[in-house]
Amino acid sequence: MSSSICIESEALRVDRALAQKAIEILKKVSLYNSMLKAINKDRYVLIPVLSSNEAAVILLKYGIEAKPEKHCFPKGKSIKGLNIKNILEKYLSKDILKLIPRSFEIIGDIALIELNPEIAKQYGEIVAKAIMELHPHVKAVYARGSTHGVTRIRELIHLAGEKRTKTIHKEYGIRIVVDIAQAYFNPSLATEHYIVSQNVYNGMTILDAFTGVGPFALHIARKAQVYVIACDINSYALKLLRESIHLNKLRGLIEILNTDSIELLRSDTLPKDSFDMVILNLPHQALRMICHAIKILKSRGIVHVYTIARSSNEAIENLNKELTSCENVSITIADIRRVLDYAPRKYIYRISLVKL
Ligand SMILES: C[S@@+](CC[C@H](N)C(=O)[O-])C[C@H]1O[C@@H](n2cnc3c(N)ncnc32)[C@H](O)[C@@H]1O
Repeated sequence: MSSSICIESEALRVDRALAQKAIEILKKVSLYNSMLKAINKDRYVLIPVLSSNEAAVILLKYGIEAKPEKHCFPKGKSIKGLNIKNILEKYLSKDILKLIPRSFEIIGDIALIELNPEIAKQYGEIVAKAIMELHPHVKAVYARGSTHGVTRIRELIHLAGEKRTKTIHKEYGIRIVVDIAQAYFNPSLATEHYIVSQNVYNGMTILDAFTGVGPFALHIARKAQVYVIACDINSYALKLLRESIHLNKLRGLIEILNTDSIELLRSDTLPKDSFDMVILNLPHQALRMICHAIKILKSRGIVHVYTIARSSNEAIENLNKELTSCENVSITIADIRRVLDYAPRKYIYRISLVKL
C-alpha cells in the first residue's frame, strides 16, 4: 500500500505535446475530472476523465489519439464533495468499508473517529490518512471508544499523525483549550453553549456545576459582566479552563472550584436564593439535583438541567417525578430543547426552569 493517498479514476494517456490542447477540449465538454490533476508519465500525460471511452472518441475528432486506462491520481486542488469512503474504496473491501463510519469529530487540529479496536489496529492508519487528506489542517487522528468514569474521558487509540492530545478548539470565536485524553469535551455542543450564553446579562451570578473545560462558562463570561462559579471534579479539566481564560477577551469573571458538585449541592452550603442561573450538565444524574438547584436560585432565576430520555414528554415526566420531592417549589418550564443524539432513540434534552 502506498504511503500517500491517491484516488482512482478513468484516464486517457495522451502524447505530451498534445496534452494541453486535449485538457482544454475535455474541460469544454465537461469530461475532465477536475477533482484530480493530470500527471506526467515519460513521454505521455495521464489525464483524469469522467468517461474514458467517450473522451477518447471526442479527442480523436480533433486528431488527438488517446488510450483509455485507469490510474490512481494524487488529489487535485479541490476534493470538496468527497467523503472518506470515496477515498477508502480503493484500499478497503466493501465489507470492511461498511464498518468505517462516514462521520468523525474534529476538535481543534485533532480528529476522532469511532472504530472498533480490531478495525483500528488493522486499518486505522489508512483511515486516518484519508481524514488528513480531506482536512489538511488535521495533524493527529485517534480512534475513540466510549466515555467512561465520572470524568467522562474517552478511550483513545492513536492512528496517525502527531502523538498529541492537547489542542485549541474554536467555538463561535471562543478559544477553548482541550486535551482529549484528560477531560471531557464534545464539539457537537457548540450551539448549545452559545444558546445558553445568549440569555445572560450584566450583574448575574451563575453556577456552572459540571463545567468540564468550561465552554458554558467561557461563552457566558464573554457575553456579559457576570460572576461565574465553574466547578468540576476533574482538576486537569480546570487547569485547561484556566489556560482558556487567558486566551479569550472576557467581560465577566470566572471563579474555578475543584469540587464534587453533587456533594456541594446536597450539603446546602451554598446560600439560598443567591444565583440567577444554574447549569447542571451531567445528563445521567442532573435531575436528582434539581431540588437543590432550585433552592439556591433567586426568584425569576433559571436552571438549565440536562437529561437523557426517549422523547420530550418522557423528559418532562422524569422531571416532574423529581420535583415531587422538592419542598415548596413553584417553577415554570421556560424551554425544552433536544440537544444531542445519545443512543438509538435516546436523546439528551435541556429543560430550562424558571423559579417563580
Ligand atoms: C457531560 S460533561 C459536561 C462538560 C461541560 N459542561 C461541557 O459542556 O463540555 C460532565 C462533567 O462533569 C464532571 N463531573 C462528573 N461528576 C462530577 C461531580 N460529582 N462533581 C463535579 N464534576 C463532576 C466531569 O468531570 C465532566 O467534566
